[in-house]
Amino acid sequence: MGVLPTLFKVARRGKCLLLLVLCLCVLAWIAAISSDDVVKESPFEDLKAIEESPRRELESEMIPSVEEQTLKESCPERSPLLRGALKLTFEASVTLEQVESENQEVVGGQYNPADCVARQSVAILIPYRNREKHLLYFLYHLHPFLQRQQLHYAIYVIHQAGDVTFNRAKLLNVGYLEALKDYNWDCFIFHDVDLIPENDENLYVCEEQPKHLVVGRNSTGYKLRYKGYFGGVSGMTKDQFHLVNGFPNTYWGWGGEDDDLRIRIQLQRMTIVRPPAEVARYTMVFHKRDSGNQVNKDRMLLLRRTPQTWKKDGLNSCSYNILSVNREPLYINITADIGQPEHAH
Ligand SMILES: *[C@@H]1O[C@H](CO)[C@@H](O)[C@H](O)[C@H]1NC(C)=O
Ligand SMILES: *[C@@H]1O[C@H](CO)[C@@H](O)[C@H](O)[C@H]1NC(C)=O
Repeated sequence: MGVLPTLFKVARRGKCLLLLVLCLCVLAWIAAISSDDVVKESPFEDLKAIEESPRRELESEMIPSVEEQTLKESCPERSPLLRGALKLTFEASVTLEQVESENQEVVGGQYNPADCVARQSVAILIPYRNREKHLLYFLYHLHPFLQRQQLHYAIYVIHQAGDVTFNRAKLLNVGYLEALKDYNWDCFIFHDVDLIPENDENLYVCEEQPKHLVVGRNSTGYKLRYKGYFGGVSGMTKDQFHLVNGFPNTYWGWGGEDDDLRIRIQLQRMTIVRPPAEVARYTMVFHKRDSGNQVNKDRMLLLRRTPQTWKKDGLNSCSYNILSVNREPLYINITADIGQPEHAH
């Protein structure tokens, strides 16, 4: 009952507390060290630096400023401007001047809604070579389509210089890396130039999981080409694309690169989501297979190796030279020299 035993008890409790605090410190220290290790081991360390490098100036008046974000309200979850299924027209008489004059709110390839803050900032990336008419139809339809969705967006055309075999996947890697120098986009839509969406409820925003937007097209009777198909038009957040190290750079010619991306996604235990079939419909503007884009005969071989190669073949190994960046009224034209296929397989 004396003072001494009580004091003793308090002292013991104090010691316990001290010990507990010490333990916690040690644990925190261990955690800090091990997470350091993880970062060091990441194959994408250099990539992080590129992704976070200083921004090149986009048309700055078009970029949502901090004040704007606090003054304006966020755009509604469902845009009141959507019209659903549309009848598409492809008039041979359409000109670029006409499309420009119909889209004067688009500046330097970029658009930002005037009266609300867009829910996502989206970079549309188009791998491209010699498809003027397709590009014209694309711009004609896509600008109003994206504006009805109230998105902050920019359209990037990634133009492969020279005439060696086309490499869609590598161009898309270049587009991702270059677009991030303009702005910290939330979402990337990888888009073939000859596919035009028929329904504006097919939202060009990214989801928790990678998204495939083309369930059907007129050329396949509006059926999915095959189970697991991830080509044509797909959308991934910056983080999702980083996690899979982007596309492979080694697929020259037509086919396979979209299946490779799907395998990378599966290896990261992500799943592919799709909008309902009645919404995810496209018209494919007719064309012959371009010269310079022959079927890639190596694709099956390459696909078998993806689990071994994805960490070293992708965004972190994408070497190229930018020849020009032209900011046209309705798109940003990035012309790149992406090299040529290595022949030893
Ligand atoms: C799909 O529609 C486009 C535009 O009307 C047309 O050019 C193309 O030939 C159609 N394709 C098929 C297979 O019907
Ligand atoms: C993009 O720029 C290159 C180089 O200036 C040019 O040759 C090409 O025609 C341009 N493409 C488009 C679609 O504007």
